[in-house]
Amino acid sequence: MSLSLFSPLQLRGLALKNRLVMSPMQQYRSPDGLVGAWHLVHLGSRAVGGVGLVITEATAVTPEGRNTPFDAGLWNEAQVAAWRPVVQFVQTQGARIAVQLWHAGGKGSHAHPAAGFHYLPPAEGGWPTKSASAVSLDQQHTAEALTRPEIQQLVADFAQAAGRAGRAGFDTIELHAGHGYLFHQFYSALVNYRTDEYGGSFDNRVRLLLETVEAIRAAIPGSMPLLVRLSAVDFSDEEHAWRLADSVRLAAALQQRGVDVVTASAGGFGMPDRAKVVPLYQVPYAAKIKAATGIVTGAVGLITTPAQANDLIASQQADLVLLARELLRDPYFPLHAAADLHADLAAVPVPGPYGRAFEAS
Ligand SMILES: Cc1cc2nc3c(=O)[nH]c(=O)nc-3n(C[C@H](O)[C@H](O)[C@H](O)COP(=O)(O)O)c2cc1C
Repeated sequence: MSLSLFSPLQLRGLALKNRLVMSPMQQYRSPDGLVGAWHLVHLGSRAVGGVGLVITEATAVTPEGRNTPFDAGLWNEAQVAAWRPVVQFVQTQGARIAVQLWHAGGKGSHAHPAAGFHYLPPAEGGWPTKSASAVSLDQQHTAEALTRPEIQQLVADFAQAAGRAGRAGFDTIELHAGHGYLFHQFYSALVNYRTDEYGGSFDNRVRLLLETVEAIRAAIPGSMPLLVRLSAVDFSDEEHAWRLADSVRLAAALQQRGVDVVTASAGGFGMPDRAKVVPLYQVPYAAKIKAATGIVTGAVGLITTPAQANDLIASQQADLVLLARELLRDPYFPLHAAADLHADLAAVPVPGPYGRAFEAS
C-alpha cells in the first residue's frame, strides 16, 4: 500500500491520524517553568490546524536544566497542573501531544533572548551550569564537570519528569538529545573530555542517554511510545566530531532499549556551512537512520511545501515530517496541504465551525 502524508501511524498504543508533526519550539514565556494561555493558543491552534502530533517546546526536568529563567518546566506539581488544560485541549482537537524533556547542561543560565541571551551569572538570577566536562559552550562562562552522583541524580530527574508527564496527560515523550544540550554534550567527543565510564569510547559517551532511556522506559507504561531527537552530525570538520555513522549506531542502541522514534536534526556546537542549508538538507540523516536500523524516523528542517512533505513519506525517506517555522507562518498547513494534495479529509478533519472556509467553492 502506498503511503502518504495523511496515512495514519500506530506507535505502540498511540494512534496518529497523519504524519504531520509540530516540531518543538521554545517560547520563553514560562516564568517559574509554568505554561499558560500563550501555550494553549500556540499549541492548540496547530492542533486545530490538523497536525497529527504536537511536540511541546523543550521542557526542563530541573530548574538548572533551563536555558533561561523563562523556559517551560516539568519539575513540580504546579507545572503538571499548568500543562493539563493545554494537553487536554490539543487532544480534544484530535491531535496527540508529546512533551519534549531536556536539560541544557552547560548551555544553561542565559538571559531572555529579547534581553540579549547573554550568560546570566548566579548573582543576576542565573545558576551554576554543569556539563560532561569543564567547558565553555558560550565563550562567556565555563561549566563545571558533573560528578558521578550528579549524573545518577540527573537520570532520576528525567525519570521523575516522565512520571509527571504521564500525570499531566501527555500521550508520549520526546527526549531532546541534540542541539548541543546535555545529552549531546556527553555523546560528542568535541566537548566530552571525561576519563571515567561516561567519556572516551562511543559506548561511554552514549551511556548517559541510554541509562536515561532505560529509566524513563521503567517509569512509563509499555503502551506509551518514546521519541528521541538527535543531532545526527556535528557541524564540524574535526576528526573526532559526531558523524552520521555514530547516529546510526546510537539509533540501533536506542531502539534496543525501547525507543520507538528518532527525529534527526543536526548541529549544536558550531554553525553549518550556510551554502548547505537548503530545503530538505537534513532529510538524508533521517533516511540513512531509517534504512540502516528500520526505526521509525522523523525528518525536520526547511520542509515548507505539501509536495516536499508528502514525497518524503511516499518515498519512505522518513515516517514523520516535522515542521517548525512553516507552522508558525501557517497553523493550518495540514488543512491546506490536504486540499492541495486532494487527500481524504478524514485524516485532517476540518473543525466543524470552520467547515465553510474549507468547502470546495
Ligand atoms: C523559535 C524556535 C524555537 C525552537 N526551539 C526548539 C526546541 O525547543 N527544541 C528543539 O528540539 N528544537 C527547537 N527548534 C528547532 C525546530 O524544532 C526545528 O528543528 C528547526 O526550526 C528546523 O525546522 P524548520 O525549518 O521547519 O523551522 C526551534 C526552532 C525555532 C524556529
